[in-house]
Amino acid sequence: MQSIDAPGTIRPNDRSRKTPAIHTGDLSIMDALPFDYSDYEPKGDKKNSEFFEEYLPKIYARRAKTGVNDLVGRMKAVVIQVETGDGVPTMAELHRMTPNRYHSSYISGTHKFHVLHNRPEFPAVILMEPLSDSYEDYIKRLNVLYPLSRQKPNTRYVGEVFHCADTADLQKTLEAQSIRFDYPGDTENDVFTSKGIVFSTPSDFTGNRIGYSNHDFNDPDSLALGERVELTEDEKASLQDGIAFAEQHGLNELMLGYDHMATRILAGEREDAILEFQTMVPYYFWGAYNISDMNSSTNVNRCPIVSDDKQSPAKVFTANNTPSFVNSFENLPMPTEDFVRNYGRRMHHMAVEILDGDHPSNQKNVDYVVGLLGQQGIPFLAHVVGECKDSPDLKQIFSKHSKHTLLITEYIERCKAFDGFFTKSNVAALTEAAGKDERYQHGHVFD
Ligand SMILES: [Fe+2]
Repeated sequence: MQSIDAPGTIRPNDRSRKTPAIHTGDLSIMDALPFDYSDYEPKGDKKNSEFFEEYLPKIYARRAKTGVNDLVGRMKAVVIQVETGDGVPTMAELHRMTPNRYHSSYISGTHKFHVLHNRPEFPAVILMEPLSDSYEDYIKRLNVLYPLSRQKPNTRYVGEVFHCADTADLQKTLEAQSIRFDYPGDTENDVFTSKGIVFSTPSDFTGNRIGYSNHDFNDPDSLALGERVELTEDEKASLQDGIAFAEQHGLNELMLGYDHMATRILAGEREDAILEFQTMVPYYFWGAYNISDMNSSTNVNRCPIVSDDKQSPAKVFTANNTPSFVNSFENLPMPTEDFVRNYGRRMHHMAVEILDGDHPSNQKNVDYVVGLLGQQGIPFLAHVVGECKDSPDLKQIFSKHSKHTLLITEYIERCKAFDGFFTKSNVAALTEAAGKDERYQHGHVFD
C-alpha cells in the first residue's frame, strides 16, 4: 500500500519545521506565536496553477496586514439544517454515531435550533429545523436544482462559525476584499444576521457560509437563538438511548471528535474554493494529493493555532481533476464530479476520530466501533480500509449518508500517531465506495 506520511506537517510537536510551534490551548489566536506562512511548503503531488501559486502567498500576507489573522480564531460551531420534523431523529442519530450530546433547544419565528456539545474545546453542533415544510430560503432554492438533493429540499450543511473578537471590524475588513455578508432583512432565517454573529453569503464555489461570532458557544442561552423550549419526555428518551448505548459499550472513551470535514466541489473551481476559504479564516493550505484512480484530488486546509485538529477541524475540498464533459475521453471514474452534479456543491462527510489502540476484543478500536454500529443497523459503505500494522497508518471507513442530514460520517483511527489525512489507497477505496452509493439513475444510464 502506498502511504502518504506527513513528517513535515506543521504541528506544535514537530521539530523539523523552521517556525516555532504554535499552540496555546487558548481560545484566542491573539496569544499564539506568529506562523510564518511563507516558510511552509505544502505537501502533496497535486499541481497548482501559476495563478494559485501567485495568490496564496499574497492572501497570507493580506490576512496578516489587514488583521484577519488576529481577529479570527478557532472554529466554534458547525451549523446544519434538516427538514421539519427531522431535528430529534437527527440528534438521536448523532448520539449514537458521534460524541455530540444534546444541550438545549430554542425557537425563533422560523426555526427550532438544537445545540449539541462534545468537549468544551471542540466545536458545538447547531441543528436548524424549519417550523414548517413550506419554509423556503436559499437552501431550498439551491437544493431543488439537483436531482438527489431536491428530495430533501431544506437539508444542507450550512457552514462553520469561527471565534471573532470584533465581528464589525472583521466584516468591514473582508468586505473591502469583496467578501459578501448578509445584512438584517436579507435572509428569511434571522440567525444569519442576529446580534453577535455575522455570516458570509453562501460561497458560489462550495455552497457553505462562514460565520464569525464572539459568543460563548458553550453557553447556548447567550446565543440569542430564540425562546428556550423543552423536548418532550419521549424525545428526551430517544436521545437517552444513544447515551446509554455509548456508556454500555465504552464509546465515550473511543469516539473523540471531528477531525476534518470534506466539501465536494466542481473540477474547475478547486483553486478558487481554497483561496476563498484562505481569504476568510487563518487556516493554511496544508497540501493536496492527486487520487488519479478516481480522477480527483484531496485538498487539505488546517488550523495552525491548535495542537489537536479536533479543536478546529481541518477543512478539506475534493474535486475532480477534469470536468465531466471531457471525462469520456479517458473514461475514468468521476465520483466526485458526479456527487456535485447530483447533490450540488456541498459538504460530503464529517470525520470522527477514534482513539488509537487495540480493543480488548482483539481488534483495532475503529473496527470495534464500526462493528458495533453495524450491529445496530447503521449501514456502512464497503469495509474499513487501511492496515495499521507496524508503521503509522490510517484506518478509515464511510458510513452511508444519513437520511436526515445527507452527510456521511467517516470514522478514522490514526494508528501510531499518523499525522496526515489519508493514504492514497484509502482515499481511492473510500471515494469509489461513496460514488457507488451516490449514483443517479435515469433510464438505464448511471450518471
Ligand atoms: Fe475524509
